Amino acid sequence: MSKNLADWEKAKREGRKMTVVTAYDYAFARLAELAGLDCILIGDSLGMTVAGDADTLRVSLEQMEYHTSIVAKAVSKPLVMADLPFGSFEESPAQAFSAAARLLKAGADIVKLEGGAVMAETIGYLSKRAIPVCAHIGLTPQHVRQFGGFKRQGKTQEAAQIIFDDAIALAAAGARIVLMEAIPTDLATQITQRLETPTIGIGAGPGTDAQVLVLHDILGLTPGRPPGFAKRYLDGAALITTALTAYAEDVRAARFPE
Ligand code: KIV
Repeated sequence: MSKNLADWEKAKREGRKMTVVTAYDYAFARLAELAGLDCILIGDSLGMTVAGDADTLRVSLEQMEYHTSIVAKAVSKPLVMADLPFGSFEESPAQAFSAAARLLKAGADIVKLEGGAVMAETIGYLSKRAIPVCAHIGLTPQHVRQFGGFKRQGKTQEAAQIIFDDAIALAAAGARIVLMEAIPTDLATQITQRLETPTIGIGAGPGTDAQVLVLHDILGLTPGRPPGFAKRYLDGAALITTALTAYAEDVRAARFPE
């Protein structure tokens, strides 16, 4: 576990896989640290997992600041990564700087932003001004309207080439980590091999330097159907419902309080 991005680069050179999970609150962030995760991502997926929205578009910078501050308070060893939400960074590098600075002040060690090569200028601007950035490419959920849904990306050779070029451009601009979502395994592996910058994958196969999953998908708490690439390690919904039902039954039957 390390807050130090140089350790991520070292892990890549040594072929050591790094681990990332989302968390949005104090209790789960603590457990993620206890479990030894290398990085906690305060993802704007909280719009879906916590707020119950169909996508991430309504998440505000204020909400990201709040969740970042409570996660950062809970952990000391893992890297704390926070998402710049839709509408908070796209207009100009200066807009991105003021949004990113707020997340760093809230406790983030690094910010993540979505977008391809068009974001290179912004990433360069932030990197030169003390803000480490993770570039998120491939299926970027903030572009869900443009994609017409949460669809895998890079399926044609032409589309794959664009994603490859995005990765090179963003790393060259100063991105410290490149996250790739829902793209072909071969493409993610080629990008990982080509870059010195560490890569994180989600739905991008085993060839990336690190993996990330959404906490609610791992714990079986996602309402509805989780993405096909996620792996459920616990039937949390069933366990929690059983516990809550037992509590309600105890109260109704006057077994609790004793
Ligand atoms: O918001 C999020 O949780 C993410 C992950 C899916 C990578 O960006």
